Amino acid sequence: MLKFKSTLVSGIVSVLFAGSLVNLAHASDAHHAHKGLNYGSFTKEHDLLTPKGYREWVFVGSPVTPKDMNDGNPAFPEFHNVYIDPTSWDHWKKTGEFRDGTVIVKELVSVGAKESASGNGYFQGEFLGIAATVKDSKRYPDRPGNWAYFTFESYEAKQGVIQADEACAACHKANAAQDMVFTQHYPVLRAAKPGKKD
Ligand code: HEC
Repeated sequence: MLKFKSTLVSGIVSVLFAGSLVNLAHASDAHHAHKGLNYGSFTKEHDLLTPKGYREWVFVGSPVTPKDMNDGNPAFPEFHNVYIDPTSWDHWKKTGEFRDGTVIVKELVSVGAKESASGNGYFQGEFLGIAATVKDSKRYPDRPGNWAYFTFESYEAKQGVIQADEACAACHKANAAQDMVFTQHYPVLRAAKPGKKD
């Protein structure tokens, strides 16, 4: 009897909890007219606050521009671990497009070792920093494709610095395969695109 009661109570608690989650999603919908939970927190000036939980988002690929192939000075050293927020991942799987509200983070990691038990190669070392891009037609109506690009001074930095010059956007626009995102380097996105057979 006691056991039954506690199950009942925990049932009620989880219903209440689920209810408040739904409210949260609705509140966020009402605010941005988006479907689902939105990721990324912003200052009043629409600068992106340093994202925190992105290692639990969806990992889409890991380009590497090692120092020893770039005269010691790649633009973004060295591994780039790229993550997309879960709501935008769901949208991508359904539509093959980046929704309004998409947040993509690339986390930079050094090359640590160049050999291991598996052979010679590039093995990840230490976290170096992050960069990010956000697509939002309300926040960034005048940006190409509505994408804003952010750099961060460090992990400790409270917020990203929006890149006001067009250098980031220009290279992405000229060279990326889809909507200014380098999907040609993200096998996970390509595999999940609707209509893709394998
Ligand atoms: C000269 C070209 C070039 C410039 C300039 C450039 N990028 Fe990129 N960016 C790339 C390429 C190529 C990739 C994918 C491969 C990689 O990561 O090396 C990429 C990937 C990214 C990604 C992952 C999502 C995506 O769109 O593929 C982010 C985030 C990003 N860049 C941010 C920035 C920011 C912020 C700046 C400006 C400070 C910037 N980039 C400037 C070429 C560029």
